[in-house]
Amino acid sequence: MNNTPIRVAVTGAAGNIGYALLFRIASGQMFGPNQPVALNLIEIEPGMDALRGVTMELDDCAFPLLTEIVQTSDLATGFKDCDWALLVGSVPRKAGMERADLLGINGKIFVGQGQAISDHAKPSCRVLVVGNPCNTNCLIAMNSAPNIPNEQFFAMTRLDENRALTQLAQKAGVPVSEVSELCVWGNHSPTMFPDFYNARIGRQKLTSVITDESWLKDTFVPTVGQRGKAIIEARGASSAASAANAVVDTVRDLDNPTRGGFHSVCVVSKGEYGTPEGLITSMPITVDAVGNWRVVSGVSLNDYAKEKIAASNAELAEERKIAFEQLGIS
Ligand code: NAD
Ligand code: LMR
Repeated sequence: MNNTPIRVAVTGAAGNIGYALLFRIASGQMFGPNQPVALNLIEIEPGMDALRGVTMELDDCAFPLLTEIVQTSDLATGFKDCDWALLVGSVPRKAGMERADLLGINGKIFVGQGQAISDHAKPSCRVLVVGNPCNTNCLIAMNSAPNIPNEQFFAMTRLDENRALTQLAQKAGVPVSEVSELCVWGNHSPTMFPDFYNARIGRQKLTSVITDESWLKDTFVPTVGQRGKAIIEARGASSAASAANAVVDTVRDLDNPTRGGFHSVCVVSKGEYGTPEGLITSMPITVDAVGNWRVVSGVSLNDYAKEKIAASNAELAEERKIAFEQLGIS
């Protein structure tokens, strides 16, 4: 047990994801039941009243692990000495929009936040970007944070992985815990590729249990890719509780050694599997006993999978071009 609190900065803390996330961090679900945490809650000025209310509710839970709550709209204060920065705050899309349509609105937020993390967070700070389009926003933050190594920047595709696991479990009629080794590759966008070929059900290859390849290609893959849109249409608001759950899963699994299998995380590419270098793209990740992550090597990809992954990465390269032009990043 480590008695020094882990300091977690959360932007957009008074928003929908924030409301589903903070209580899980404070209760110990992210870092374990013995690890104290301090929360630095960051909002824009119009969100500060709501943030006060959320803080009152956190107080009213009397969480034994929660040692301190900082409420601020000042980025220097908000990111000061933080160990983790969870970048949620940004505008969600509405029905009829793609996530990439948010780039012009949200992208600039991540310049200032990247700079503030670089200047005020611990040099070991790890950053998880949730706000959409999360891959490219993460890339913007990373390129704005010279003091933080690129390997400490992540964007979230764990929600897509979790969605995929449940779709496959329901199709196969097995508990979701039976489905494993499902990597979502590429962009958190409809072009993402949930790689059913390498997934397993129990000890078997998934494709020897679910043998209907046309269902896998033509129903499963688009269902996962369009799940965020389906939720917005049904709920009138974008996913929040499941997104917060995926944040908890992502951070917990980056903070602990991987026990079997791997998980999907968007990380900076060093050219693995033909991915253009420098992009933030989703790949299968494991974490070793001393906390270093690596991309799983030797995953066998057929032509269909390679084509899907290349298309998603081409989309990311295009997003990078647009974002860097808009923001003057070289
Ligand atoms: P929301 O509108 O409910 O809350 C966003 C909050 O962020 C608001 O309280 C707002 O005041 C605050 N905010 C806006 N700009 C800010 C800034 N510059 N600094 C600090 N706070 C700021 O939205 P939400 O439902 O919580 O979603 C947040 C983001 O997460 C959206 O971009 C959404 O698309 C994205 N998202 C990503 C995933 C994923 O899997 N990667 C899943 C769900 C949602
Ligand atoms: C999701 O996948 O639910 C989020 O990225 C929200 C969205 O806009 O789809």
